[in-house]
Amino acid sequence: MKRIGILTAGGDSPGLNAAIRGVGKAALGHYGMEIIGFRDGFRGLAEDRTMDLSSGQLSGILTLGGTILGTSRDKPHKMMIDGERRDMTAAIVATYERHRLDGLVCLGGGGTLKNALRLKKAGLNVITLPKTIDNDVAGTDVTFGFDTAVAIAAEAIDRLHSTAHSHHRIIVVEIMGHRAGWLALAAGVAGGADVILIPEIPYEIDNVAAAIRQRVAQGKPFSIVAVAEGAIAQQDPSSVDDARADAAELVYAGRTLKLAKALEKKTGLEARLTILGHLQRGGTPSAADRLLATRLGAAAADFVARGKYGVMVAARGDGVKAVPIEEVAGKVKTVPHDHPWIVAARRVGTSFGD
Ligand code: F6P
Repeated sequence: MKRIGILTAGGDSPGLNAAIRGVGKAALGHYGMEIIGFRDGFRGLAEDRTMDLSSGQLSGILTLGGTILGTSRDKPHKMMIDGERRDMTAAIVATYERHRLDGLVCLGGGGTLKNALRLKKAGLNVITLPKTIDNDVAGTDVTFGFDTAVAIAAEAIDRLHSTAHSHHRIIVVEIMGHRAGWLALAAGVAGGADVILIPEIPYEIDNVAAAIRQRVAQGKPFSIVAVAEGAIAQQDPSSVDDARADAAELVYAGRTLKLAKALEKKTGLEARLTILGHLQRGGTPSAADRLLATRLGAAAADFVARGKYGVMVAARGDGVKAVPIEEVAGKVKTVPHDHPWIVAARRVGTSFGD
């Protein structure tokens, strides 16, 4: 009988519980495997903190946001222990061996892929599933959590429209996504934002102001500017690097406030800033994310059954593909300039500030 471990790492994302359920029900019910949950990402693995997933814990979680296992951004090779950063790889390998695991399923995004690769090199049989609201994982069509976050951000833009319209204001809305623009782009197009700013297309503030003034001239003295948190101005090309990632929120927030103030000056319209923040990651997953997470989770159990390790279970069309972890770890999937969503947005008059 095979025994597998499962953990969720990195920022949480709607659909994690659906994926845990998918892996767990397929592993337990279909394949007769044993499954152990590790709490709080790689930290729980290093500290051997587990959660029994064999008796009822997998029921009733399909629709739940967050993750029943808990999560953290801890990295195996530099974990804060008693105030200092320590390499906990050996402790993780020891936990894996103590539980006599055949494989470890890690649900996470870009950071998790890098950590999974480290554990693969340390000799563990790892499988990853691509989750993140940012949709920036290379090698997969899409990540679970993205669809839900797009719907939340698009609904926010809808609501901001009526108040921007009533007050003749600019509303700058900051949307998550780290260094990729997928979320701001999709929500911006779906919500009909007038300007969409994404990291992949550095913007010129005068072009943004000109687009807003043009709308005023057309009798539309209000505008919604959807800004990816990682968007950068052409004249301020500093981007948020990994070293500063912990302080990313503060860096991002400062930037969008400056942008709103500058647009106020350049257009003569009042501007307000709305930061959607963690609202975008909370709550029940969409039906599409539940479906994606369930099929990727069930496929992970298939991979364990076949002994196919060292791979990410990627979504490809309606199917799945085993992508070697080293092919995608450390890569960020950004939005290509000729992506159909960008082309369509430009056709309907959306400005990208370039
Ligand atoms: O990667 C998901 C994400 O929500 C990013 O969009 C955002 O930059 C980051 O996580 C926020 O991280 P935290 O939850 O640690 O503040």
